[in-house]
Amino acid sequence: MRITPSILNADFARLGEQIARVPSADAIHIDVMDNHFVPNLTVGLPVVQSVRAATDQMLDIHLMIEDPDRWAAAYAQAGAESVTFHIEAARGPVRLARQLRSLGARAGVALSPATPAGAVDSLYGEVDVILVMSVEPGFGAQGFLDLVLPKVRALRKAISSAELDIWVQMDGGVSVETIERCVEAGADTFVAGVAVFRSDDPDQMVQTLRSLAEKAAIKR
Ligand code: DX5
Ligand code: ZN
Repeated sequence: MRITPSILNADFARLGEQIARVPSADAIHIDVMDNHFVPNLTVGLPVVQSVRAATDQMLDIHLMIEDPDRWAAAYAQAGAESVTFHIEAARGPVRLARQLRSLGARAGVALSPATPAGAVDSLYGEVDVILVMSVEPGFGAQGFLDLVLPKVRALRKAISSAELDIWVQMDGGVSVETIERCVEAGADTFVAGVAVFRSDDPDQMVQTLRSLAEKAAIKR
């Protein structure tokens, strides 16, 4: 069970300090938004390059951009260990996943809430992580959408029957209230934004979320 805190709702003027507050994180999740694929604008390559220089933590880049075919490789070249693009945006998802892997990064594909599991059927052999959005992409602090849980179940079933090692990452509204049902459905990697960065002790929250997930996984 992996916890990957999102810095979307952290203090952008103090990113290095904020990241240093969660040493127990399995990776730092950075939400790149271009105000085209989603109605919000965050950070891009220069900020990721600076974060790379400031921390040894694994960097998990979530590209919510219109043209991942053009930009994704640069994030891998900047030293991000994992780069995830949206299936709704990619024009050549197989080429893109292979390009990311050839640059030494884990390749990830993301699905917005209304995108069915079948949209990534052809990509099982090509990716290392499937990110399932449990809110509409664009903003932190939204309510968790239970309607995506059957999709998580379907993805987990397909991954298990193909005997593949693909992480299933849940992104949006993950908290102490919702993490157990995500685990029960088959997720093993959890983005948490406000749950972590708006808590008094962010690192303790990372550990609490992981321990809840691990307990729920035993019952699965
Ligand atoms: C939303 C982003 C998420 C977001 C999650 O589009 O992809 O990573 O930061 O934030 P919370 O955990 O607050 O829903
Ligand atoms: Zn994200």
